[in-house]
Amino acid sequence: MSSQNNNLEDKDRKLFLNNYLEVRGGNSLNGHIQISGAKNSVLVLMAAAILSKEKINLFNVPQILDVEKMFNLLVSMGINITASSGKLEIITNKINQPIQNEAFKLCQELRASFFCIGPILARYGVAKIPLPGGCSIGARPIEEHIQSLKRLGVNFKFKNNYLIAEAINNEKRLIGSTIKFQSKSVGATETLMMVASLAKGTTTINNAAKEPEITDLAKMLNLMGANVSGAGSEQIVIEGVEFLRGCDFHVMPDRIEAGTFLIAAAITRSSLSLSPVFPEHLNAVIKKLEECGCRFEYSFPKLKIIPNQILNSVNITTSPFPGFPTDLQAPFMALMTTLNGISTIEETVFENRMQHVKELNRMGSKIILKDNFATITGVKNLKGTAVSGSDLRATAAIALAALYANGESAIYGLNHLKRGYENFASKLNSIGADISNVS
Ligand code: UD1
Repeated sequence: MSSQNNNLEDKDRKLFLNNYLEVRGGNSLNGHIQISGAKNSVLVLMAAAILSKEKINLFNVPQILDVEKMFNLLVSMGINITASSGKLEIITNKINQPIQNEAFKLCQELRASFFCIGPILARYGVAKIPLPGGCSIGARPIEEHIQSLKRLGVNFKFKNNYLIAEAINNEKRLIGSTIKFQSKSVGATETLMMVASLAKGTTTINNAAKEPEITDLAKMLNLMGANVSGAGSEQIVIEGVEFLRGCDFHVMPDRIEAGTFLIAAAITRSSLSLSPVFPEHLNAVIKKLEECGCRFEYSFPKLKIIPNQILNSVNITTSPFPGFPTDLQAPFMALMTTLNGISTIEETVFENRMQHVKELNRMGSKIILKDNFATITGVKNLKGTAVSGSDLRATAAIALAALYANGESAIYGLNHLKRGYENFASKLNSIGADISNVS
């Protein structure tokens, strides 16, 4: 078993190294980009479909690697799921437990697999799931998930790499409760919302995360017949119901993809329009871009960015929504390397999310890193070279830097990029970038 795994990893590694983006920098961009459905929303909505035995139709689903992995995971669990151009049809008649073989491996690769534990528990009273994987951007503990589920009457055991969660009462149904999270967690808030929708009685979540993806989940749960109020605020109240029905649901636009392309416009000093965009999802990012010297025009659902040719330095501290999103910290740092003056970034959400600094410096940036605080001195030129992204947003960041750099860059780490960006290179090429996919 282990030698087979090693062989597989070698094969994956070769694939990873042979596949890269060749970016010839220096082009101005111009035109319009269509924003895809949100990765962080669709992954949780796919898990939420497990809560009902009726059909859930999801529309505006992005074709990205994380969705493909979640799709394969649901298939290997015995769920009936089909995909056709931007649409998923999901019907959960049964779940094969415990999760084994291919599904076990997928769970370990995909942190979002942990979203399944709540819906499986709520529907069947017991869930057996391996511990999750995902981006290597810090410890990413799950004690908020565990402690809050315990308060709803769940007993946990760890056995042979599995987390076994079981409703302890005779009815095998979870019981509503009042929860106060110690730290704000998007995933834990979402898990609790899904579980509490089918629990007996009322659940109140205090210190809930307020990300737009949480509001998207509440909208879909309510369409399914749940009773969720307060999503998007610090307190979410869920009155449990006996069952949830099927629904049709459009996934919200990806605010992180939109933010990435706003930064692409700023780094190349180009005007671009994006749609669909909800500017209230991106207030903190728009504010910082305005502070640099970018102007915005909005006419629903299109957002246009118009950057000055000289942009000035800014300071950023990442924090939970509505603060500056940690997922755009790396892309924004790429922009900061081109700004006039000295910028700073403090990363407060994840403890290990500065791996792009080394690669940006290899391209000629001047970034000094002390713990989670980066000081970035703007430079006139970056130089194209071979660089490698270590996680999803780090790879996007170096690709953006390559758009600004003189000469040619080879961007490795595409397996990370494909996790979260649909047609990254072709979208940029359609507005004037010069990127080839080499494999
Ligand atoms: C989600 C997003 C991810 C984003 C992150 C923060 C998805 C699929 N992913 O990840 O893109 O970067 O929110 O906006 O939606 N924490 C604890 N204990 C816990 C859970 C979390 O201490 O039990 C900590 C984490 O270590 C981290 C912080 O809380 O430092 C935020 O984590 P969380 O909001 O849970 O992130 P995810 O839901 O995993």
